[in-house]
Amino acid sequence: MNPAKTIDYAKLFDLSDRVALVVGGGSGIGQAGAEGLAALGAKLIVADVVEPDAHGVAERIRAAGGAATALHVDVRDTASVETMIANVMRQHGKLDFALTTPAVNLRKRLLDYSEEEFDRVVELNLKGTFRVARVCARPMMERKRGSMVLMSSIRALNVEPGQSIYASTKAAIAQLTRGLAVELGPHGVRVNALAPGIVATPLTQPITSNPVWNEAYAKRTALGRWAEPEEMAGPIMFLASDASSYLTGTTIFADAGWTAIDGRFEPQLKT
Ligand SMILES: NC(=O)c1ccc[n+]([C@@H]2O[C@H](COP(=O)([O-])OP(=O)(O)OC[C@H]3O[C@@H](n4cnc5c(N)ncnc54)[C@H](O)[C@@H]3O)[C@@H](O)[C@H]2O)c1
Repeated sequence: MNPAKTIDYAKLFDLSDRVALVVGGGSGIGQAGAEGLAALGAKLIVADVVEPDAHGVAERIRAAGGAATALHVDVRDTASVETMIANVMRQHGKLDFALTTPAVNLRKRLLDYSEEEFDRVVELNLKGTFRVARVCARPMMERKRGSMVLMSSIRALNVEPGQSIYASTKAAIAQLTRGLAVELGPHGVRVNALAPGIVATPLTQPITSNPVWNEAYAKRTALGRWAEPEEMAGPIMFLASDASSYLTGTTIFADAGWTAIDGRFEPQLKT
């Protein structure tokens, strides 16, 4: 380190004047990420297929003193994704950060999956992520800077019955992240993935509404509990900021130890 150089470390997290797009920002982890990024000074574009939800989150951000607008997007539709990025560029002229969250989990055993169901999950989770990453990469590459976060999951590493197809898309997204990082790195663009554990959102409502399943999942973590969506905001804010300037192609597991624990057996240990 150069002793003559003084670094304002607190500034590393400053997102003032940064333009941040959150696709899927109308709910859950996307909403928390959008609100967190705005709190660090970013100008937010909240995009979602449920337009009133996107507007609601943008309104919450403005009410808290931040800057945000809302857009409709359907990540299953290439034209819609292209229109979204055109609107972002028209409004702001640049894009510093993008997070994309939309995904569906159809919990069924592999042999019960129809091809239509397979296509539905892969189309939204994997191809939707690809579409958003592709349109966001272009303006970032032109400016030779930018950061993207794609949503993986603990399911990229381990599965349970009924999770095969969802888990496959989440593993694919971790690999898409690596591939993009390799290709975009020379252009100054970073790409990382976030792999949450169990977060109480509409996506996981079928689990949290089942007391036995809910409790079993909580116990499976080292911290013994579910996450609130806002607990995913920290890693998103970090990956958006210059505090993570040397991170690319990695997956951050925010899982309360889910993937650290090897099974559920607690051995009796001598003191
Ligand atoms: N909640 C968890 O426990 C958990 C765990 C691991 C990974 N994840 C991942 O985190 C991400 C977000 O999950 P969440 O729990 O916040 O879900 P969520 O359902 O609360 O939010 C997803 C958002 O995406 C939007 N969306 C859905 N389809 C869309 C489309 N076609 N186009 C645009 N927007 C669309 C929804 O309207 C919603 O606002 C997902 O990728 C999920 O796989 C979640």
